[in-house]
Amino acid sequence: MTTDDVIATADRYLMPTYRRAPVAFSHGQGVWLYDLEGKRYLDFIAGIAVSALGHAHPALVAAIQRQAARLLHTSNLFHIAEQAELARVLCEASGFDRAFFCNSGAEAVEAAIKLARRWGRRGERPRYEIIVAQQSFHGRTMGALSATMQAKYQDAFAPLVPGFVAVPYNDMDAVPGATTDRTVAIMLEPVQGEGGVVPAQADYLRSVREWCDARDLLLIFDEVQTGIGRTGRLFAFEHYGIRPDVMTVAKGLGGGVPIGAVLATERAMALVPGDHGSTFGGNPLAAAAALAVLATVAEQRLSEHAAAMGQRLVEGLRRLVDRGLARGVRGLGLLIALEVSGEAAAVVDQCREAGLLVNAVGPAAIRLAPPLVVQPAEIDEAVAILERVLPSVQVPAAPAR
Ligand SMILES: Cc1ncc(COP(=O)(O)O)c(C=O)c1O
Repeated sequence: MTTDDVIATADRYLMPTYRRAPVAFSHGQGVWLYDLEGKRYLDFIAGIAVSALGHAHPALVAAIQRQAARLLHTSNLFHIAEQAELARVLCEASGFDRAFFCNSGAEAVEAAIKLARRWGRRGERPRYEIIVAQQSFHGRTMGALSATMQAKYQDAFAPLVPGFVAVPYNDMDAVPGATTDRTVAIMLEPVQGEGGVVPAQADYLRSVREWCDARDLLLIFDEVQTGIGRTGRLFAFEHYGIRPDVMTVAKGLGGGVPIGAVLATERAMALVPGDHGSTFGGNPLAAAAALAVLATVAEQRLSEHAAAMGQRLVEGLRRLVDRGLARGVRGLGLLIALEVSGEAAAVVDQCREAGLLVNAVGPAAIRLAPPLVVQPAEIDEAVAILERVLPSVQVPAAPAR
């Protein structure tokens, strides 16, 4: 099949839910992707912060092959050795006490919302309201969407699930006024990913933690995008010297095999048998893949590597900003946004033409989130491509009067 064949078939048979770039890939290796015509690209999207180990990593491939040949799926009617082991490894690595497995980020958020609502029923009066941030992104299912405070995602799907209250991000002053006797939790992304790669300020998260303790609220961190080494620590909360009560992860956890998880401390545990479930969640294949990812991230110290590579990338991008080719850089570890002077969509298209995959996170910002295994030479090559592309997509300066 050629790319044109793929596009024609997709246009005819798929629901048109995505605005896709006109490219389809045949295979990948490390940080590189190869399209159906054989052109190669530096993958600085990593499947939207998913392919932590890059493409075709031998440890992940071997784990998936071994598990596929032995046992794919049995359901949660029975014990699953790989799932139990994954729960142990994740809890020990994160300091949480319990894990529940599902298949995506949105499902992890759904589980966190249900856990919070269940926890809120311990007292005489049920508490169910969850404070979330403006410009948040928590997923597309109805509960997660109702927590996603961006009109472009929500507006067409009203009525939404009630019980979510929005406050400005990074603004502690807004939190007390939003807290009522119905409030049960505050849910935040430590770095707002889809909202434009906006890191939380440390004093903000610490103040929110204190507020949660003072008012007996659960603090939920949505680490679907930031987890598994992405920000230069295994979990982003480690940067801030505080710990949430509940944490969602997905994306990087399976290195490309769909899996999500919600982790909770013993204090936050409220779910009992029958409360929640998933046919596929934590099945032997997904759990084996996640175990291979976590083992590789630990053995190869990929969180530390991501921190170093992120620093190199930020330095390279800052040089472009200093030369007037872009407006600003922000992010944490290997989750970075470059504010561009022209239209982000045009920058994305031109970068792809030039062999670099990035994506837009807003009208004037592009996201760079390469696999954690990215090497210095590949960082430098990505910066060199941007250096060539950016001058052609600058918004022309206003004419002098
Ligand atoms: C912070 C956050 N939460 C939840 C989600 C939803 O994850 P999924 O697309 O796997 O449902 C995303 C996806 O980008 C995300 O960034």
